[in-house]
Amino acid sequence: MTSSRLPGFRDLSVEERRAATAEQVGVAAGGLDVLDPARGLSLDQADHMIENVVGVMGLPFGVATNFTINGRDVLVPMVTEEPSVVAAASNSARIARVRGGFFTSSSAPLMQAQIQVLDTVDPAGARVRLLEARDELIAAADEQDPALVAAGGGVHDLVVRLVESRAGTYVVAHLVVDVRDAMGANAVNTMAEALAQRAGEIAGGRTLLRILTNKADMRLARARAVFDAESLGGPEVVDDIVHAAALAESDPYRAATHNKGIMNGITAVVLATGNDTRAVEAGAHSHAVDHRGRYAALSHFEKDAEGHLSGVLELPMPVGLVGGATKVHPVARAAVEILSPRDARQLAEVVVAAGLAQNLAALRALATEGIQRGHMSLHARNVAVSAGATGDEIAKVVARLVQDRAVRADHAETVLAELRGTG
Ligand code: MEV
Repeated sequence: MTSSRLPGFRDLSVEERRAATAEQVGVAAGGLDVLDPARGLSLDQADHMIENVVGVMGLPFGVATNFTINGRDVLVPMVTEEPSVVAAASNSARIARVRGGFFTSSSAPLMQAQIQVLDTVDPAGARVRLLEARDELIAAADEQDPALVAAGGGVHDLVVRLVESRAGTYVVAHLVVDVRDAMGANAVNTMAEALAQRAGEIAGGRTLLRILTNKADMRLARARAVFDAESLGGPEVVDDIVHAAALAESDPYRAATHNKGIMNGITAVVLATGNDTRAVEAGAHSHAVDHRGRYAALSHFEKDAEGHLSGVLELPMPVGLVGGATKVHPVARAAVEILSPRDARQLAEVVVAAGLAQNLAALRALATEGIQRGHMSLHARNVAVSAGATGDEIAKVVARLVQDRAVRADHAETVLAELRGTG
């Protein structure tokens, strides 16, 4: 059984951390060797993934510790260029753990494809004629993907909307498809393209767009946690985090930054597992528009009856385990192995728990000492290394840069020269 409580993990060498991760998740020794850049994505593999390949770009791959989700400990793989994201998620997960960790749930994996029909003489009639042909259209769509149907997925429903636009009224048919463990874009796009002509005939118009919607509001995942008041720093911190969250619920300027903090966690896990970060981001931001049509916070924080902080986050999470980079990228495969989710829904739920953890960490820092202190000591590490510090010198230079409140390249060079007695 995996334990995500790994005290002293950050003090280990990279190789030791990788070995400890492999041991915890039950991967054979060497099973995570692909995380070594020299053994990761090869040029040849990259050349098969996109066009005009001239190289491969590396990004740091870390694991967030302390997560317990629905009673199961998990090490959460995260790929990000931003310092402090992994540490912050681990820290929030440690606080959430005091009161049982994260609890998650999700809808069925329903994706939707849109078929746009234009030039209908009677849009209202066309809509109802399409709905009358529901069974025929669903059967034709299911024929496109017998493997999906055999796996228990396939078309779930047909919804038809009328969309008024400056260029006329469009009849827009939505195919609602259970895509099981796939992200689902290919499955639903193939179905929409196959149905377009028949849908146009029935509607008495011309079909134009046939494509999934990234507003995947039928494929939601949610996470909640109770963050212990004392571990957060006391009752005032709880109250101030509620104020911080309330501003993000009411002010789009704050909501954008608040949601960016959530996406720091979400995108890092989505990227690590080789999923489509842009699809998830488009879904998240479209979901952030509330029922009044205003862009608002994706998460909510309240003080519970015992004075602890209750946090919830719900958003579309179109991630898959089959197909795409998740299957072909060796590092993404290792990330999936570290998580070993039962299915794509469980992966989606872990992603949302990471988003909630990240969000809480940012709000807690903002409601207390501000984020610069934590950020700066990590940033100082980069500055120290860029200035040429190695080994023991790094910690010494970092300490001085933070103490002098001067996290700058020129100061790092001066401190380094002093340390080496050459200044
Ligand atoms: C920085 O990457 C993310 C934050 O700005 C998020 C927030 O303000 O909630 C710290």
